[in-house]
Amino acid sequence: MSIPHTFVQELLARADVVDIVGRHVQLKKSGANFMGLCPFHSEKSPSFSVSPSKQFYHCFGCGKSGDALNFLMEHTGASFVEAVQDLAQQFGMRVPEDDASPQDRARAAEQRKKQTTLTEVLEKAALAYQKHLKNSPRAASYFKGRGVTGQVAKQFGLGYAPEGWHALAGAFADYDDPLLEESGLVILGEEKDGQSHRYDRFRDRVMFPIRNVKGECIGFGGRVLGDDKPKYLNSPETPVFSKGRELYGLFEARNAIRDEGFALVTEGYMDVVALAQLGFPNAVATLGTACTPDHVHKLFRFTDAVIFSFDGDSAGRRAARKALDAALPLATDVRSVKFLFLPPEHDPDSFIREHGKEAFARFVSESVPLSQFLIDAARDGCDLQTAEGRARFASNAKPLWEVMPAGALKQQLLSEIADLVQLSNRELLEVWQHAPARGSRNSAAKPVTKDAEPPVWNEGPRPRKAKQSNRPNSRLPAARADHAARILLGNMAAFDTLTNEDLALLCGLEAPHGPLFVWLQAQYHEHGVQPWGALRAGLAELASQTYALQLMSGLEMLDNNTDIPGEQSAEAKDELRQLLNRMLVEQLKINETAAIQAAKTDPCALLRYREFQTRRMALEATGPVPQATGGV
Ligand code: UTP
Ligand code: MN
Repeated sequence: MSIPHTFVQELLARADVVDIVGRHVQLKKSGANFMGLCPFHSEKSPSFSVSPSKQFYHCFGCGKSGDALNFLMEHTGASFVEAVQDLAQQFGMRVPEDDASPQDRARAAEQRKKQTTLTEVLEKAALAYQKHLKNSPRAASYFKGRGVTGQVAKQFGLGYAPEGWHALAGAFADYDDPLLEESGLVILGEEKDGQSHRYDRFRDRVMFPIRNVKGECIGFGGRVLGDDKPKYLNSPETPVFSKGRELYGLFEARNAIRDEGFALVTEGYMDVVALAQLGFPNAVATLGTACTPDHVHKLFRFTDAVIFSFDGDSAGRRAARKALDAALPLATDVRSVKFLFLPPEHDPDSFIREHGKEAFARFVSESVPLSQFLIDAARDGCDLQTAEGRARFASNAKPLWEVMPAGALKQQLLSEIADLVQLSNRELLEVWQHAPARGSRNSAAKPVTKDAEPPVWNEGPRPRKAKQSNRPNSRLPAARADHAARILLGNMAAFDTLTNEDLALLCGLEAPHGPLFVWLQAQYHEHGVQPWGALRAGLAELASQTYALQLMSGLEMLDNNTDIPGEQSAEAKDELRQLLNRMLVEQLKINETAAIQAAKTDPCALLRYREFQTRRMALEATGPVPQATGGV
């Protein structure tokens, strides 16, 4: 659904950010502004400021800032559309949908109404199940036997679905209401004697209501009291419930996640309940599925730090690997993702009940950072003492590394992986770039021509300093990198036109160039096009700051980072393309030289040489390429 910009402006004009924030945070007037304790990080003295004149909030502690809508999204975990709807409702305004036909709009309204009625039905069932729990000594003693207190049972709305096929008929006057079926509470069986046969999905099970972030009941998990199978039964996918997106306990945990500064992700209903009861109210669980990118994304709306907890057995490690895959594309520099492995025979519930809070806290504090787990996962089964093992490790690491967003973490991992495989960063990127795609059959089967003629060089390899003295120098003329940096700083939209090969080249350059491109690409990835003024402010966090400022000094006029891409930006893109082609050709020539050198001891290097040469010739054929060295 797309909401017209004008409506959002109108909404923000009516809403008072002080009023909206004030409902969630205690604010005190301080000069022209209001101050309070920041709801986004824990603090003892107030550094959270709200400006009525600017209609903006800003935390001097954690840097979070925004308008009333941003606040609602950050604080309640609502999506943009949800926040707009929420705010509009408060002012009795109707949210227009600008690209919807009247039919679409009617359908959307119908859908929303249905969703409300579905959650109402589920809510009603949850209350009935809670009541049954009070009246069933068997169910109550099941929970008691597992150490669940009445208080935590109440907090999570735990219940009991009684035995019998139609227990819900006691709670719903019309058991034939199709909503019961649509909400997943009732199953429509095969027709018998012209009569459809309907019955309760959940029978004789203790019940865990699943709530969305607004606290509405959207589904259930039900556990058998004994050892029958299946142990847990979950609600089916319905218009209000999707297993791959929802997390059990998120509503109950959301404030604690903010207070503790991290979310703990477990695998089970009982893990969440036990952890909440015994000192970790910031725990959530996936719902019998592997962790998905949607799950991770959802969690990152509440916190920048996520710890995944797994059993220490092989199933746990497999699940952890899935969580790694889900988290990698979202692992930006400001976020922290860690992995906690319990002893093989334990899950969080059994562990914390047996060993207590302190012991679990130790595991939390010793959890493994994503960078380390990535390397461990890639290293699995590879003997780094052998060239083959190192090559295999590099090939395992490639797809993991590639999906990470650009940034300092990614760059550091590159160095770490490169060190482990005993290559320079640039060499590793080259290997990766030219590696055949996974599973390709004819990978190593190409014949190596023994008598490849080395080309004529106009620039011999220069020795490098210290540690890398045995490696070829792959430094490109700095003037070209300066030029590329100037173009990209003034025309961020040009990032769109860059290929992976271009990015690998630019980001792999030595400091100050490489890190600047890594940073700039991350900026583009996260925030899109930003004017030079904003970029300059952000540069403060970067070691290449001085260099970038020098590059741009007096060139503010070149800034094309505006909303309206004009002719200049098209020109800049062309210029950049030509420049990059030159750089790629130069780089390939350097690679060719290095490959020929290496071929003295490594016959495979000849194959690399051929690949570099073919690529270079293809590039040269696409346009005019000047001398290998010389002016820009
Ligand atoms: P586990 O089998 O590890 O059980 O399933 P558990 O959570 O430790 O359960 P308890 O402690 O015996 O009560 C982990 C999660 O996988 C899902 C549930 O979400 C469960 O919490 N699951 C498991 C199912 O959906 N169906 C099943 O039959 C089993
Ligand atoms: Mn368990």
